[in-house]
Amino acid sequence: MSRPRPGRPVRPGGPDRSTRAGTAYAVRAPAKINLHLGVGAPREDGFHPLSTVYQAVGIYDDVVVSPAPMLRLGLRAAAHVDAATVPIGGGSNIVERAAELLAGRYAVADRADVLIHKAIPVAGGMAGGSADAAAALVALDRLWDTRVEDEELLELAARLGSDVPFALVGGTALGEGRGELVTPVPDATTWWWVVAPAAEGLSTPAVFAHFDRLHPNAPSAPPAADALLAALATGDPAVLGAALHNDLEVAAFDLRPELARLVARGEELGAVRGLLSGSGPTVVHLCASADVAREVAAGLQDDRRATGEPVLVANGPVAGAHLVEYA
Ligand code: C5P
Repeated sequence: MSRPRPGRPVRPGGPDRSTRAGTAYAVRAPAKINLHLGVGAPREDGFHPLSTVYQAVGIYDDVVVSPAPMLRLGLRAAAHVDAATVPIGGGSNIVERAAELLAGRYAVADRADVLIHKAIPVAGGMAGGSADAAAALVALDRLWDTRVEDEELLELAARLGSDVPFALVGGTALGEGRGELVTPVPDATTWWWVVAPAAEGLSTPAVFAHFDRLHPNAPSAPPAADALLAALATGDPAVLGAALHNDLEVAAFDLRPELARLVARGEELGAVRGLLSGSGPTVVHLCASADVAREVAAGLQDDRRATGEPVLVANGPVAGAHLVEYA
């Protein structure tokens, strides 16, 4: 396996390894979709073995950290995100776990003020919490000057959640194990997606549990991603569209039948193919161009005018967690 390298830029500043008062770092991390999600029977630890192809798409959360003696979390939500759905406080947020994990490993006495700017749909199957955790690791590594090696950062990320290593790596990548073993794959094309989140989230464990009920005899090895990888290499949206695959769709559509209708509706409006993103409930539509994506998004937005639920357009692949600003 080639070594994925989280996209961290060259460290600014001089040899001073101490935290400087007034320093702030902003790190941006992308949402993900799964172009292929093959799921096997649950392992002894309860996780499902996956063969997945992730793609990072241009919807981002930013995490801004500055020095503070105690850990304090804040949130700014984009207009299309309901801030009330984000778990903040009480140690329940994955960003708090990320901070404590890094501080504990390196015996860092300081903590930080952490402000999450959230644009990735919450509980949407786009790994928004994982993006925040990845961004927090990169930002706090800077703030605390812990200089964690890439391999170790990936290991810390995997402890926080199955999708967190991919949020560090970004691009397009194969995910194995429970999703945490990430190998980048070449992907020179810009793909265009329409992203339709749902107002009400869907629990990942609930979708996996329903998958188990529907597939009591699932094979222990997940369906391989070979066909998707071959399709990706053609750069042709029609070919990629035909290869998109998500084993969790049947379970998620059974729990939320309106999602299957949303997939069909986007295709009717001109998308090459609609697909559940991860464990859902976000539905993504692959489109042949940016113009088609804007048309499909406008059509879906029109359908949703009664509820005001958002529809976004995003391109992929994009970079993993990276520094965007420091002061
Ligand atoms: O790893 P993460 O914390 O994101 O997983 C959340 C939940 O999703 C797990 O507790 C498990 O129920 C389910 N899951 C799974 N198999 C995976 C990844 C997640 O069953 N490969």
